[in-house]
Amino acid sequence: MCGIVGFSSRTKPACAPLVNGLRRLEYRGYDSAGVALESKEGIKVFKKTGKVAELDRLLKESLSDAEQEGFTIGIAHTRWATHGLPTVENAHPHVADGGGLALVHNGIVENYAALRAQLEKKGCKFVSQTDTEVLAHLVAVFDKGDFLSAVSQALKKVEGTYGIATISKRHPGEMIVARKGSPLVIGVSDGATVVASDVSAIVAHTRQVIYLKDGDVARVTPEGVDIYTLDNVPVSRDVQAVEWDAESVEKGGYEHFMLKEIFEQPESLRNTIRGRLDTVNGTAILAGLGLPPRDLASIRRAVIIGCGTSLHAGMAGKYLFEALADLPTSPEQAAEFRYCNPIIGPSDWAIAVSQSGETADTLAAVRESIGKGALVSAICNVVGSTIAREAGRGVYLHAGPEISVASTKAFTSQVTVLAMMALKLGRTRRLSREEGLGLCNEISSLPDLVSEVLKENDAIAAIAAKYAKVDDMFFLGRGILYPAALEGALKMKEISYVHAEGYQAAELKHGPIALLGAKTPVVALLCDIPGKEKTVGNVQECRARKAPVIGIVTRGDEEAAAHCNDAIFLPRTSPFTAPVVSVVAMQLFAYHVARIRGCEIDQPRNLAKSVTVE
Ligand code: AGP
Ligand code: GLU
Repeated sequence: MCGIVGFSSRTKPACAPLVNGLRRLEYRGYDSAGVALESKEGIKVFKKTGKVAELDRLLKESLSDAEQEGFTIGIAHTRWATHGLPTVENAHPHVADGGGLALVHNGIVENYAALRAQLEKKGCKFVSQTDTEVLAHLVAVFDKGDFLSAVSQALKKVEGTYGIATISKRHPGEMIVARKGSPLVIGVSDGATVVASDVSAIVAHTRQVIYLKDGDVARVTPEGVDIYTLDNVPVSRDVQAVEWDAESVEKGGYEHFMLKEIFEQPESLRNTIRGRLDTVNGTAILAGLGLPPRDLASIRRAVIIGCGTSLHAGMAGKYLFEALADLPTSPEQAAEFRYCNPIIGPSDWAIAVSQSGETADTLAAVRESIGKGALVSAICNVVGSTIAREAGRGVYLHAGPEISVASTKAFTSQVTVLAMMALKLGRTRRLSREEGLGLCNEISSLPDLVSEVLKENDAIAAIAAKYAKVDDMFFLGRGILYPAALEGALKMKEISYVHAEGYQAAELKHGPIALLGAKTPVVALLCDIPGKEKTVGNVQECRARKAPVIGIVTRGDEEAAAHCNDAIFLPRTSPFTAPVVSVVAMQLFAYHVARIRGCEIDQPRNLAKSVTVE
């Protein structure tokens, strides 16, 4: 997901623009960084784990100022690991051709294992565990004299996504860049051409930019850029003037990272799902689980452990595992779990859910589960995080860095991964191939369903304006929508500071209804799935106490909407997709309430992005 920078000039030094460009991309989150510099003697590579400042220090320790001034062409990278731990060996740039070629990459090479095997047969020596390294060797193998052609031929072998930049001692003065699924922008100016993942790393040099499109491959020189298709057909792309300042670029033009990440969800869900649905056998492909069908079939119980949003995802997982795999499943709050001397053992599957992979209570619960002999897996977003490493097996979200403290895209990806795990588990039990194929279709429809919800943003903002001044709010859900209601309430609490409670719809009349009145709006999850009619009854109970009701309703269900003061209309879902689709509406609702209340949205008071203490 992270950052690429390329700099090409005849006279201007490259080191500072490369390092400063990486600094502009730091907001995207990363775990390591590196640069490759072109010189008459060949390509020099410098790589470090940790902050860009560490890389800058390494450069200054390794090169004198005069030496640094001597490099005018180079490429640089901040890595957000997807394949291979965050180590120096796995950091980019990756090299081939005896160190004479260097390459940086954003994205995922799905078929890297097969390509690596083929390249090793050709004698290529690999030094990393990454998917990216195959690209460097592929280009070197195809290089018969034309650098751009070599890159094009290599990329035709690739399944997955890429934004790349590469330089080679065989082609001085040339930098080849290409994109498919990961952004790349080229800044053109007198005396230098700059390449980057987004314009925030370019605006310091020029505001005249070219946005490459998927399938483009380009030759970059200090004089400018020529763009082609992978079949070497010249392509013309307009030069555009950048209006944004660097700060707004980091947020992709959105006012807050949270809103950017809410709108990223169709893409982050595609990345979570990519390559993981087997639409022949109606199951999921989750190689990282490392559990053959025999092991999965012998599990007697699942325990899904997490905190906050991740616990809510785990609660949704309960419904998914029990409905699809007939497996008794209990969600557990990690801090409670670690101190209650849990009854867990070898026939149990402990699944730790954690976006950061560093939450102290969840980590302790993993260690407790391992100590009692349970099977342990992790669902994390950060590759190589402590929980991921100590669990030793699991599934990465591939949702990209989540900057806003309030978790949004991580939740929808967590629930989607749990649905794929339930599918895989179910197919080792009573779930038929046809049922599995049906679920594959439902899961693969999630990005488009979420895109439909995002189109309701303005309507949701208008409703939020009506309720932005209240002090208390309830979120009601039934069945699998109860965890979604909890998550919607947590978003509202976290960023708008409204006292919002998520409740099982049926529970309201057992006490909390005493709190309802004209100033206590209720958000009711009324997606048209089994149980909706009962929740409509709960809505009527609320209306009888003069509580205004905001219904989250399936488009076309005017009957349910008629019971509500306001309605947010969603595309039709199944019980298995309803939590993901409905939560996006509640994320937007909470965001707009907080925006109208003038709250600090990305960094709410009292909160940390990762709670690494008890
Ligand atoms: C979610 O919006 C919160 N920031 C918080 O509840 C978070 O989900 C919780 O701290 C768990 O974090 P983790 O997923 O990184 O383990
Ligand atoms: N998949 C590559 C890796 O894990 C690139 C990750 C990125 O986009 O930073 O190294």
